[in-house]
Amino acid sequence: MPISLHVNGEQHLVDVAPTRRLLAVLREDLALTGAKHGCGEGACGACAVLLDGRAVVSCLLPVAAAEGRELTTIEGLGETAAALQEAFVEEDALQCGFCTPGQIVSASALLAAVDRPDREEIRTAMAGNICRCGAYPKIERAILRASGQVVR
Ligand code: FES
Ligand code: FES
Repeated sequence: MPISLHVNGEQHLVDVAPTRRLLAVLREDLALTGAKHGCGEGACGACAVLLDGRAVVSCLLPVAAAEGRELTTIEGLGETAAALQEAFVEEDALQCGFCTPGQIVSASALLAAVDRPDREEIRTAMAGNICRCGAYPKIERAILRASGQVVR
């Protein structure tokens, strides 16, 4: 069944089952492999994308639920992601890097909503993003840095 998706500013028509998971369509049909397949159960945040500006996990979402809505993947984040990526590097906020695209997608949704989030707001917003390497304190500092706050 043809489904129309608006991804990173471009329109795509994909012929897939409406119940197919959005993550699979992004990675396999649209070659957007930035969102990662981690747990596949909605628990780790590695597959996070923005749906109408809100961070959602794409591994559980049927593709039909994204039809007619604005989808943004890590590839389409632009300047916000660039600032966050730079801050992640400066703060050494990644080890294996597998969780990083999802972390940056969630952090960009936070920074779009709150200019200068405090640590508590960061922890709340990032609670759905698991880092098996345990880089949490550095991820928090990277988000503080990206939002122009002094990092101690
Ligand atoms: Fe989607 Fe883990 S892969 S939440
Ligand atoms: Fe390895 Fe987060 S840097 S899972």
